[in-house]
Amino acid sequence: MTAIAEGDGYTIVENASLQGRNTFRVPARAKLLIDVRKPAALGELFGYAALKTQPLLVLGEGSNILFTRDWPGVVLSIAARGIAVLDDDGDRARIRVEAGENWNDFVRWSLGRGFAGLENLVLIPGTVGAAPIQNIGAYGAEVREFVACVEAWDRNAGNLLRIDNADCAFDYRDSLFKRDRNRYVVTAVEFGLPRQREPRIDYAGVREELAALGVTEPTAPTVAKAIARIRMRKLPNPALIGNAGSFFKNPLVDTAKAAALRGQQPGLPVWPAGDGRAKLSAAWLIESCGFKGLREGDAAVSEQHALVLVNHGHASGAQIWALAERVRNGVCTRFGVELEPEPLVI
Ligand code: EPU
Repeated sequence: MTAIAEGDGYTIVENASLQGRNTFRVPARAKLLIDVRKPAALGELFGYAALKTQPLLVLGEGSNILFTRDWPGVVLSIAARGIAVLDDDGDRARIRVEAGENWNDFVRWSLGRGFAGLENLVLIPGTVGAAPIQNIGAYGAEVREFVACVEAWDRNAGNLLRIDNADCAFDYRDSLFKRDRNRYVVTAVEFGLPRQREPRIDYAGVREELAALGVTEPTAPTVAKAIARIRMRKLPNPALIGNAGSFFKNPLVDTAKAAALRGQQPGLPVWPAGDGRAKLSAAWLIESCGFKGLREGDAAVSEQHALVLVNHGHASGAQIWALAERVRNGVCTRFGVELEPEPLVI
């Protein structure tokens, strides 16, 4: 693989392998791969015919994507780095982070400087730029609570926009940027972070973990430590085995349907989701169908967590997708609940 063009702030490679750029580690290629180190280069890049006419895919660290085939156009990777405190009144700060920063590094940076809020989101794989796109969430918190605004290149308008939190259409694992994927390229995120905040420790297992650590007065760093320990125990580590975290979203159903299912399945975890809806545990539904640990070749449902699909070595994206379909059909037949993939499936 050799660079075919080197510009101010970007590099273009032809027929590039993406196997090292997706955490499932499945083979796939891109017709053109562009690493963008300076978002200012986007104006020039989007002026090129290839970017106007060919399908475009924006990739971060590839921790929420499954390639079942090659990408027939341009893959754009935003590699811009940098963290800057824009203002800080001693209680709260506004912090700008370039899209290419690693999410967990930024969480650690914020905790190290005495900010609170991101501790429940520790160890989530991926980049800062990807965080608002699917409104990452874990252990009772979602990133939307801390996003002040998102800076994105708008392909329709041909310029950079600052989109305030209220206009980002955040929802459970969803946002404007996910719904209109072809339009926006996130280049930076501005966060509003407090120094003091009541730790959020209500999610199942968090109090127990803190108690096991001997913590009686939880702080942001100790909550992060407890959650990191839970995650390391429960979720397969993408550095060791290919995966993209939860492969399905927890399904939202109306409360009547949730009550009916709960009547038949008293163990089923159900969480209120507002607007007459309830969220069901997809992991529980999958495990009840007997799929936990199921392996087809190198594609498998994790033995550690039923919601995570893993690549034991040489599975293709198509094989992982075939397994996902089998899981989805099984859950639908047994419970009448449709599971929706959480990662982007190409
Ligand atoms: N459960 C099972 N079998 C399993 C695992 C879990 O039955 O193999 C049941 C248990 O009853 C458990 C319940 O499912 O109490 C919930 O499990 P867990 O706390 O692991 O959470 P989850 O709903 O499966 C969601 C997020 C995760 C996030 C955790 C913790 C989604 C799609 N997933 O999983 O996010 O880490 O909560 O907050 O919302 C991700 O998005 O990639 C991700 C890993």
